[in-house]
Amino acid sequence: MKAWIAILIFSLAVSAKPAEDLDYEEESDKEMDEENARVPVLLSKEQELFGKIGANVSLPCEVDDIGSYVRLWRRELPDGNAAGLFIGTVKNVRDSRFGLLSNGALTIEDLTPEDAGQYICSLSTRSPVKLVHNLVVLIPPKVSAVKSMIVVPKGEPVTLQCKATGAPQPDIIWKRHDEGKKMFDGQKIIAGESITISSVSREHSGSYECVATNSEGTDKARVSLEVQYKPEIEVERTSINSMEGYDAELTCTVHAEPKAAVTWTKDNEPVAIDADRIKVMKNGSKHVLSIKFVKSSDFGNYSCLAMNSIGETKTDIEVTGRPTMGMLKTSPFIDGVRVQYQIESHDSVDEVKIKYKPVKGTKWEERVAKADESDDAKVIHSGAIILENLNLGEMYEIRIQAKNKFGWSRESDAQKFVAENATAPPGGAQGVTAGTSTVVNSVSTLLLAYFLVCC
Ligand SMILES: *[C@@H]1O[C@H](CO)[C@@H](O)[C@H](O)[C@H]1NC(C)=O
Ligand SMILES: *[C@@H]1O[C@H](CO)[C@@H](O)[C@H](O)[C@H]1NC(C)=O
Ligand SMILES: *[C@@H]1O[C@H](CO)[C@@H](O)[C@H](O)[C@H]1NC(C)=O
Ligand SMILES: *[C@@H]1O[C@H](CO)[C@@H](O)[C@H](O)[C@H]1NC(C)=O
Repeated sequence: MKAWIAILIFSLAVSAKPAEDLDYEEESDKEMDEENARVPVLLSKEQELFGKIGANVSLPCEVDDIGSYVRLWRRELPDGNAAGLFIGTVKNVRDSRFGLLSNGALTIEDLTPEDAGQYICSLSTRSPVKLVHNLVVLIPPKVSAVKSMIVVPKGEPVTLQCKATGAPQPDIIWKRHDEGKKMFDGQKIIAGESITISSVSREHSGSYECVATNSEGTDKARVSLEVQYKPEIEVERTSINSMEGYDAELTCTVHAEPKAAVTWTKDNEPVAIDADRIKVMKNGSKHVLSIKFVKSSDFGNYSCLAMNSIGETKTDIEVTGRPTMGMLKTSPFIDGVRVQYQIESHDSVDEVKIKYKPVKGTKWEERVAKADESDDAKVIHSGAIILENLNLGEMYEIRIQAKNKFGWSRESDAQKFVAENATAPPGGAQGVTAGTSTVVNSVSTLLLAYFLVCC
């Protein structure tokens, strides 16, 4: 800075005197000046000025009375050096966009991003009188993803990051690009340059968007996250009841990334596909093995096997002639508990076994029940039984099993209930009707009321 002023002074002195004399002469002249003349006062205040790209700005530097002093304009360069712009009215920069007004203001036309920074107006007084303006060139945001395609195995941590430029510094928010999907914490957006998921699950897969915004506008970038995992299989039914001449449909819903190859086996051998009768179908993640006109040789244990580069998963589905589905519902009854059930069987149901015990007990009580066989063609068989002599208030568990000509079904999972005596509800008669046989035969009511306890 000192050196720069010396150069300025040198260039000001239009003199033929040798350089070594100059400093001394100037110094002593100035000392004399300052003793005699008053020091000028700056009227303009330091400012932060904002200008858009292409705009014209004017940086003020008004002085009450400059007298014989000289006004100097310079700017701080990013490398820490200074560049002289004007010495008095003498222009010291080539750039034609820089100009000087009669009141001493520096003007810059057609702003570019490089013009941003500090501009200093000083007076050639012995003790420095100066003014520093900060010029901010407003720039719309530009944002880009640090990595726009991320592939990560399930369970690993992952960070999505975007970088934004612009002035003022843009704010960044993140959201999912997939319609309706929420961020990990259940919110719609997360603010910040990056987001980190400590352990990714398959629900995190998808397209994300980072949006950078400042006063000048917004910009967006995409990040696509692919979470890889070994196949996961969901089955609606692990046991399917069929009968010769009827159809059977085995369904596996497979989720996998990368996409899985799905194959079907029966008793550990590949299923013999037969275009007329046995087909495999696929709809999205749903894989179906369809068997038409079932033969007895079709009964057996099938598996749906899904494989991708991460691993393989297998799920078994049984096709059997035996009854497969036991549905149970319990409700308080007068001096007992009423158990309603539904069984799936193409063939007529010969026997139904219900066993129950207090959850804390060890001895099962068994009751033989009947299925309603009024309509031979139906596949769903229903019935009801009343269990008496239960300890009121005690919790029991109950299981059901049914038999047809192919044999006994698997036992259903245990279902729990608390033994309660029926109490007439405020409504009166209605509560009593619910316990009578009229409901037992109403299949549609049962279908609504029953729930799955097995398979
Ligand atoms: C900036 O000043 C120049 C010269 O006076 C003029 O031609 C130009 O239109 C001005 N630009 C803006 C954006 O005002
Ligand atoms: C595939 O499944 C969708 C919805 O689950 C359904 O709308 C569509 O009809 C199915 N396509 C075929 C060919 O079965
Ligand atoms: C399927 O496998 C189970 C045991 O895993 C076996 O009890 C059952 O009999 C098999 N079913 C058929 C139809 O082979
Ligand atoms: C159960 O309720 C019925 C009528 O609601 C009543 O007659 C019977 O005494 C009650 N039984 C017990 C054990 O409380």
